[in-house]
Amino acid sequence: MVLDVLTASQQPILGFATGSTPLGLYRVLIEKSHADEHLLACWKRMIGYNLDEYVGLHPNHPQSYHYYMQENLYRHLPVAPARIHIPSAEGAVEENCHAYHALLTETGWPDLQILGIGTNGHIGFNEPDDELQIYTHLTALTPVTRQANARFFDSVDEVPQHAVTMGIGDILKAKQVVLLAYGEQKREALRQAFSGAVSTRCPASFLQLHAHVTIFTDQDVRG
Ligand code: GLP
Repeated sequence: MVLDVLTASQQPILGFATGSTPLGLYRVLIEKSHADEHLLACWKRMIGYNLDEYVGLHPNHPQSYHYYMQENLYRHLPVAPARIHIPSAEGAVEENCHAYHALLTETGWPDLQILGIGTNGHIGFNEPDDELQIYTHLTALTPVTRQANARFFDSVDEVPQHAVTMGIGDILKAKQVVLLAYGEQKREALRQAFSGAVSTRCPASFLQLHAHVTIFTDQDVRG
């Protein structure tokens, strides 16, 4: 599906996610692209957006999402740095959020948005709350998310407290969404997300309002 979008237009726009879940997808994209010259060249025309970034980590920090994207995807493909967009969580964060929104408005939102899901139902870093934000914004990370992501750091204390993330409205503006969710630990979040009701307490449940979502999962979440 990702390669279909990549090859379908002169300026394909892809939305990328981080976390452990999409790593296999990125490996396959790299492999397939290197096996086909035409496919490899298509990456030169792509515009890439990322969902989120931790506040307080330098882009060279091994756990920053800037670093993750370089390491796991971009450095293996002929993408122009000017076409890669990842929220900046350094400096004037509010201004950066507005700039990210302006950029999305100018280019258009992704043709295809890849998503993972948090065990608490978050997408990007849109955490369960009384209200959800529509566009790119600064957010506090919940203890559940910081604990879940502690495995990437030396201790939970080193996991940043805040992040910048594209909003729920941004995610719903993608032409299509591909959600990847593997393992028993994602089952309850998936079940809630697709239960037939929408709640800000399970941000992924808003995906039910989107007309073109494809879920890849190894969990049976019916009933
Ligand atoms: C992270 C990211 C999300 C990701 C989720 C699940 O914190 N902000 O974009 O989908 O949590 O991560 P994992 O795939 O490692 O389970």
